[in-house]
Amino acid sequence: MEQKYNPYDNMLHVLEETAQELHLEKDNYIPFKYPEREIKVALPVRMDDGHVQMFEGYRIQHSSTRGPCKGGIRFHPEVDEDEVKALAFGMTLKCAVVDLPYGGAKGGVQVDPTKLSETELERLTRRYTAAILPFIGPEKDIPAPDVNTNPKMMGWIMDTYSMLSGYPVPGVVTGKPIDIGGSLGRNEATGRGVSIITKEALKQFKMEGSQKIAIQGMGNVGSNAAIILHEMGHKIVGISDVSGGLYKAGGLNIPAIIKHQAKHKNLLKGYKEDGAKEIGSAELLTCDCDVLIPAALGGVLTAANANKVKAKLIVEAANGPTTVEADEVFKKKGITLIPDILANAGGVVVSYFEWVQNIQSLMWDLDRVNEMLGKIMEKAFAQVRDIAVKDKSDYRKAAYILAVSRLVEARKTRGVFP
Ligand SMILES: NC(=O)c1ccc[n+]([C@@H]2O[C@H](COP(=O)([O-])OP(=O)(O)OC[C@H]3O[C@@H](n4cnc5c(N)ncnc54)[C@H](O)[C@@H]3O)[C@@H](O)[C@H]2O)c1
Repeated sequence: MEQKYNPYDNMLHVLEETAQELHLEKDNYIPFKYPEREIKVALPVRMDDGHVQMFEGYRIQHSSTRGPCKGGIRFHPEVDEDEVKALAFGMTLKCAVVDLPYGGAKGGVQVDPTKLSETELERLTRRYTAAILPFIGPEKDIPAPDVNTNPKMMGWIMDTYSMLSGYPVPGVVTGKPIDIGGSLGRNEATGRGVSIITKEALKQFKMEGSQKIAIQGMGNVGSNAAIILHEMGHKIVGISDVSGGLYKAGGLNIPAIIKHQAKHKNLLKGYKEDGAKEIGSAELLTCDCDVLIPAALGGVLTAANANKVKAKLIVEAANGPTTVEADEVFKKKGITLIPDILANAGGVVVSYFEWVQNIQSLMWDLDRVNEMLGKIMEKAFAQVRDIAVKDKSDYRKAAYILAVSRLVEARKTRGVFP
């Protein structure tokens, strides 16, 4: 029987392996095995019918070694402590890979937001913000959107924090609406970053011309990646979301699908296209394609389906979509995998731009944002690639080597307090 997948054990395994690879002394990497601060909050929320319902939330700050903590907030019924810990650790590594002056954190609330009304969701978001308020702030920890959280909710967080501070604090959260200090380009930044990394990887592996791409998840990340990769001339042959999936060998009509989603609660359900057949979300992962982009939830590529994956290149847009066992299968099969901490870092890069603009009360134009995003993503890809080529290693290992080296250097420079 397969053991229950623990995403935090997965991260520890990776850290240990990287430390061995780099011949690190235990003293220099051991602190990164432990999150600096784990906050668990109980959230009473008055529901629309008048009764009080309890929710559980987390904010886990993995490391502030390289700068203030940074990471999204996820609203999902399956949020648990190990998952949030792993995601926080992933943020520390991600910020280090793209060389941002940030540490890593993550937040989560155990809730199915589709079961809440908008007013209930607002009260829950504000209560969660108040509960973690002493631990967040522009110099401490800056949340952002993740699964099932969006710019509007970031606006509620900004407002709650500002009201309780007595003055506007836009830099407390990123991914906000533009009119209260959000950055142009932030909403599509992760999908754009995924597309830039895919483009660089295709160049590196001489996969020329239009490629067949399958994307699991058509939310913020998946849909923006689909639009941009479609605009780059690739065929998006498969897509899926929580309501189902579609496959068309000749390539799906992405603009029409985006229009349908906008009308139907961001869901694919009910969309029809000539030549497109309905497939399940699991089937999408093993469909006939050149590039597979998991852009939904973690732990979807496992020992059970890895052998059936047909793609030559996997670009991890979601956080932690591949288990350690699946990774081994891909290595054996010669499938190249670009890891999440590099592939989906575009969001945090533009979040960083947003925070910089907030702190300095500046407003950058979209071209500037996209140009700087492109430069940072391309540079990070090249740095990871150079390590992979030099060490003859896979890209995940190379990305971890880059991130862990930067973390350990910062740790050594700061020293151990007191
Ligand atoms: N939003 C960001 O800026 C950002 C940044 C970095 C990483 N990520 C990661 O990218 C992933 C997606 O995030 P998002 O912001 O697009 O979330 P989102 O909530 O906007 O979209 C999630 C998508 O996944 C789909 N989905 C849910 N369960 C599914 C299932 N079982 N099968 C297939 N599809 C399913 C949903 O229908 C939706 O289309 C997450 O792993 C997140 O942690 C997001």
